[in-house]
Amino acid sequence: MTEPLTDGSDGLERVIAAHTVLSEVDGAAGRLIIRGYSLDELAGRTRYEDLVALLMGGFYDDLPPDLPAALGQARAEVFAEVAALDTGLLDRAPIEAMRALTARLADGDDAATALRLVAAPAVFTAAVVRAQAGEAPVAPDPALRHAADVLRMLRGAPAGDAEADALDTYLVTVSDHGLNASTFAARVVASTRAGLTSAVLAGISALKGPLHGGAPGPIIDMLDEIGEPANARAWIEQALDRGDRLMGFGHRVYKVRDPRADALKQAVRWLDARQGRLEFAEAVEAAALAILRERKPSRSLQTNVEFYTALLLEALAFPPSAFTCVFAMGRVAGWLAHAREQLAGGRLIRPASVYVGPMPRKAA
Ligand code: CMC
Repeated sequence: MTEPLTDGSDGLERVIAAHTVLSEVDGAAGRLIIRGYSLDELAGRTRYEDLVALLMGGFYDDLPPDLPAALGQARAEVFAEVAALDTGLLDRAPIEAMRALTARLADGDDAATALRLVAAPAVFTAAVVRAQAGEAPVAPDPALRHAADVLRMLRGAPAGDAEADALDTYLVTVSDHGLNASTFAARVVASTRAGLTSAVLAGISALKGPLHGGAPGPIIDMLDEIGEPANARAWIEQALDRGDRLMGFGHRVYKVRDPRADALKQAVRWLDARQGRLEFAEAVEAAALAILRERKPSRSLQTNVEFYTALLLEALAFPPSAFTCVFAMGRVAGWLAHAREQLAGGRLIRPASVYVGPMPRKAA
């Protein structure tokens, strides 16, 4: 057997598990490149449909030329599954209900399957949120741009252009991010040739955890409990004394500020949301960074994408319980492109383990 690169106890941090043309995360420079474009060229300037085309182009030969129209059609198709929302599912967290509806879609490996999977988190999240609030789900309008339709399905009323632009900024910003845990999970499943739906379900499941995509909901709880800037230091000190992690801070790759944080903060500014909320969040952020520097001087724990995600999705009136679902709405394009890239060039992903259990007793 060849010598292992790592014993796995470092979370595979030093293992290169794929070569990809999809995105590069430079943790030292604080730079994100998505298919040849830096994040600041894309965020705030690109619609999500165009980003889907950018990520999937070359991986799906049968991608329709009018992708926005095809995606609108896919939203309308998957809406049929919303009828399966029953009380059992509505008692679950939105991400679990959304995942269960997504699991109803057939596995396949063509562009039509991929577009239904791009549509699924958007349509199902809006329906679940409304149904949990006792309101009837709203059917998609295939003619609308994706972000505007998501907000309309969520609220039952049209959204303004600034709000749709802000949601596009979010979806584009989180669309792909190197070999993060959910993308790796999606690639592992894709490598078995299980199909695109299976790969996306693996991605959703990995994203759900608070160390990955589950952080922004608890950030709203943190801000609400802190209440005003004067309470920030004491609240944060107590949380760290309990051994809690501060949600929205720290990152496996970024050792400087996550560039996505500023792209999202900018989008929060466009929305004339709750007066003073952004300034309050900035004060909490500054306190958190100062305390993390004091307590962990050897680590560089900086603001990550989730902190301003929480502010942005709150300003767009998504309930905090559904924030991780909105992350999935954006990241699904990355999972689908990575799944195809894995299939095109990769072998079955099957790493090695080192057995450290007891050896069998020798036969007498
Ligand atoms: N608050 C307090 N301490 C922290 C934090 C935090 N947010 N993040 C890391 N640390 C400490 C950790 O306790 C450990 O300390 P020590 O060495 O003294 O035991 C040290 O920093 C290293 O932690 P680690 O778990 O080995 O670091 P990692 O690279 O695996 O962690 C992380 C990355 C994102 C899981 C972690 O920073 C974290 O738990 N952050 C809070 C949750 C969060 O914001 N998640 C969203 C991540 S961004 C979205 C995405 O791209 O997935």
